Amino acid sequence: MTTADSDGHRPNVGEGGFASSPGKVILFGEHAVVHGYPAIAAPLQRRVTAHVVPDGSGTVSIDAEGDVGPILPVAVTACLKSFGIHGAKVAFGGDLPRSVGLGSSAALSVALVKACAAASGCLLSDGQTLERAMDVERSFHGNPSGLDHTVSYTGKILRFVRGVPFSEVRLARPMDAVVWVVSPRGSAKERIARISEMAKDDPERVRGIFSAIRDLSEEAVSAMERGDLELVGRNMDVNHRCLSELDLSTPSLDEACRRLRDAGAYGAKLTGAGGGGAVVALCQDAQGILRTLDLPENVAFPVRWNPA
Ligand code: PMV
Repeated sequence: MTTADSDGHRPNVGEGGFASSPGKVILFGEHAVVHGYPAIAAPLQRRVTAHVVPDGSGTVSIDAEGDVGPILPVAVTACLKSFGIHGAKVAFGGDLPRSVGLGSSAALSVALVKACAAASGCLLSDGQTLERAMDVERSFHGNPSGLDHTVSYTGKILRFVRGVPFSEVRLARPMDAVVWVVSPRGSAKERIARISEMAKDDPERVRGIFSAIRDLSEEAVSAMERGDLELVGRNMDVNHRCLSELDLSTPSLDEACRRLRDAGAYGAKLTGAGGGGAVVALCQDAQGILRTLDLPENVAFPVRWNPA
């Protein structure tokens, strides 16, 4: 029997377990969150799908767009095994751009765990699902904070601190953004490791930057909860400058942020591990900004978050 996930996304054909999970944008606090500082992230409508069809063959075949790479087969096989699935056909799909800072590995991790649970008839609690998705995510990121897969699983805008129960950010009014996929980027795992090295080599400087990011995040939570999106945007601009000081931005990311601000955004920043990838801009009129920028749909798209 094919199992649809709670969001009603269904595969076209076949048996087994099917699930999907959304990507995310980090509005504040990437990297700082790995080191115990707060971050704010929000889910996207774009998702990753996973379809797991156990076949008892003892081998795992993976169907995914583009280069599968060496990590995915190992991570998928380990996840299947943890559900007692020895051999399966696994297919990944969806409309979330990969490896550009939009949480594709976390969305894949959550979708895979949910699909395995459905395929094996295993009922998992929220905590168990999150733990297993974190295991998969570790294969990709080494030392992830847990922010990405928690937002992907809950589908909510979260204030997240590593190792502490998360809280939902309750918007006072709808919030609109533009996400712009600017350029490919290198390994998030290496960048996370590099910032950790920097924090060891020059702890005072990095602590100063992370503390500034923390203050911006905390102020932004209150601003979102009272509907002051201009202030949220200004803080995003400053967060972007903090990330530049950590050498995480690039000329193309800076240029994209500048164009978004010039087109009327409240503020813009790189999102995710940096060194390329995507930017996110908060704005009053996402469609108007997209018209001004005149970018293809697969490069820039609007996002809306509504109050719960
Ligand atoms: O670039 P992404 O989508 O993989 O996000 C990474 C976010 C970091 O804060 C850099 C790492 C983490 O685990 O939180």
